[in-house]
Amino acid sequence: MYEQVSHSLLNRILDELKPHIRKRDLRHFYTRLGANFYAIHSLFHHLYGKRDDFVSQMVRLVEVMATQYIARDAELKELDIAREQNHNWFLDQEWVGMALYADGFSDNLEGLRSRLGYLQELGVNMLHVMPILECPKGASDGGYAVSDFRNVDARIGTLDQLSELGRAMRQRNMLLTLDVVVNHTSNEHEWATQARAGNTRYQDYYYIFDNRDVPDMFEETMPEIFPETSPGNFTYDASMQKWVMTVFNHYQWDLNYNNPAVFIEMLDIILFWANRGADIVRLDAVAFLWKKIGTTCQNEREAHLILQLMKDCSQVTAPGVLFIAEAIVAPVEIIKYFGEDAIIAKECEIAYNATFMALLWEAVATKNAKLLNQGTRSLPDKLDRATWLNYVRCHDDIGLGFDDNDIASCNYQPLAHRRFLVDYFTGAYDNSHARGQPFGRNEKTGDARISGSLASLAGLEYALEKNDPQAIDHSIDVILLLHSMIMSFGGIPLLYYGDEIGTLNDDTYQFDETKAHDNRWMHRPRIDWDKAERHRRHGTVEQRIFDGLKRMIAVRKSTPAFADYNNRSLIETGNPHLFVFMRSNPFLQNDNVLVVANFDGSPQALTLSDLSNRGHFEFGQLRDLYSGEAPRQFKDQLVIPPYRFYWLSDTRLY
Ligand code: GLC
Repeated sequence: MYEQVSHSLLNRILDELKPHIRKRDLRHFYTRLGANFYAIHSLFHHLYGKRDDFVSQMVRLVEVMATQYIARDAELKELDIAREQNHNWFLDQEWVGMALYADGFSDNLEGLRSRLGYLQELGVNMLHVMPILECPKGASDGGYAVSDFRNVDARIGTLDQLSELGRAMRQRNMLLTLDVVVNHTSNEHEWATQARAGNTRYQDYYYIFDNRDVPDMFEETMPEIFPETSPGNFTYDASMQKWVMTVFNHYQWDLNYNNPAVFIEMLDIILFWANRGADIVRLDAVAFLWKKIGTTCQNEREAHLILQLMKDCSQVTAPGVLFIAEAIVAPVEIIKYFGEDAIIAKECEIAYNATFMALLWEAVATKNAKLLNQGTRSLPDKLDRATWLNYVRCHDDIGLGFDDNDIASCNYQPLAHRRFLVDYFTGAYDNSHARGQPFGRNEKTGDARISGSLASLAGLEYALEKNDPQAIDHSIDVILLLHSMIMSFGGIPLLYYGDEIGTLNDDTYQFDETKAHDNRWMHRPRIDWDKAERHRRHGTVEQRIFDGLKRMIAVRKSTPAFADYNNRSLIETGNPHLFVFMRSNPFLQNDNVLVVANFDGSPQALTLSDLSNRGHFEFGQLRDLYSGEAPRQFKDQLVIPPYRFYWLSDTRLY
């Protein structure tokens, strides 16, 4: 949008730019800056307009964008332009992701490069390589306490090896996702060291207080993230004799985005990694970016404005790069991280679908899909040009972030139902085969979350221990059922490393003092490659899961109805054990896929004539795209075996 004040400010800034920037041919940079400048100026002014140094901070901001644009490789610039032209590229069903720790998966970055073939065999073409930036030797929250944002941790590799990996991935048409931990730094980061030495410029990078007065005011309304291991939200620093805000662990210092210098540094870092070949940047803990006394300090409006500003600025320099919002918050809040607009994602193009993940596990525990149906129905439609990251497990705990109203409308009592779920997955419930652990139990609120590997939560550890073939079959079915949901729901499925071969809990973390206090390490495995190789041997657990996923991925990629264009309609069937939805090809009429999932341990029936009467589906010759077979039917009743799913096509002939 053209607006006089910002246009004249833009001209002034361009005059003030350093000569080496002014001399270059920056045509694309300027057209994008012109297009976004009104928004950038308004947002920056909203956040920092009252400061005397506002204009010089804006000049610095534009300088950072321009300098990183100049540094951007020609190859990446071409990719930017190609993605501008094909702006819906990431909504395609072609993408299937996996999150992994480079050291746990393959020792280091070199090892990862040598294992790309394995991932490609499975069909994975987007990798989230978990934090690889330099962090302290001891506890570092799995790399989320960064001590140098511009260097790869020596234990994982080097910057050059990362570039090599990026290049190798581009050759294989694989996308690289890297983390930028925007909310906090390690207490060993240079900025923190400077702050501790008394440098007030860097003390202003954090929330630092002389005494408990302000921290106590904050504490009145701030929840605790790690109540057992890191209670409270502030840590006393003896060398400074001051209190520092540390929402996560005591060694993770929260950054102060009231200070524009912090914003500009972080943008520079995001663009630095974009220029190192990241196709997607995962912005960690974005819900926490703005702190305000009297609030929970989560999901504040300014946190959204900061993300909008990051997006607007990053689009000027590296428009092909997408953002993932890691905001594991209430369902109505998560969706706001796309940015509230009619069509385009104004903040992050991709967001973790934590609601769907938690609902899937709830359905496993209850063996019905009541809450899954209800919770999915309550989820607002996402924006057109945004997509979900659908996942079953990740490196974190499972939070039970359902909406209390949804729980109540299924006739459960919210607190009791959450307790049941924790009991179920930690094996405290009689009929449960799950082998998880409670995580982050808060004695004050009664809350708890769940740790454990997918396979162990799905009962595979129990079944193998008992050597019970039927229980093994069931747990494999549950593992495949859950994956069939994330593959077909709409969005990018994100697998978690090790789940493709049924990796069980790893209890060895207890012997490492830097990890022992954090049971999320039980599901951050070191891949046993001898076990992984068993996926080639017919009939092994590894083969059954690996090949099941491989087939699902292949079918997903060739099924346009699985692309993500708000082309899903939920179908109420009257059978509480079933979760049923229709996906329709956005580019071709009458090319539908009916997804049917049975979460119960007994076969369930779906009356097909009900569906066709309601105009949902023409059922002639039904085919399950996954198995290639015609499913069992009794008259107009489709029978779905226990813990199984169908991807039914009504038009395709084989
Ligand atoms: C994110 C990460 C989690 C980490 C936290 C603090 O939620 O996923 O692992 O503990 O941020 O950085």
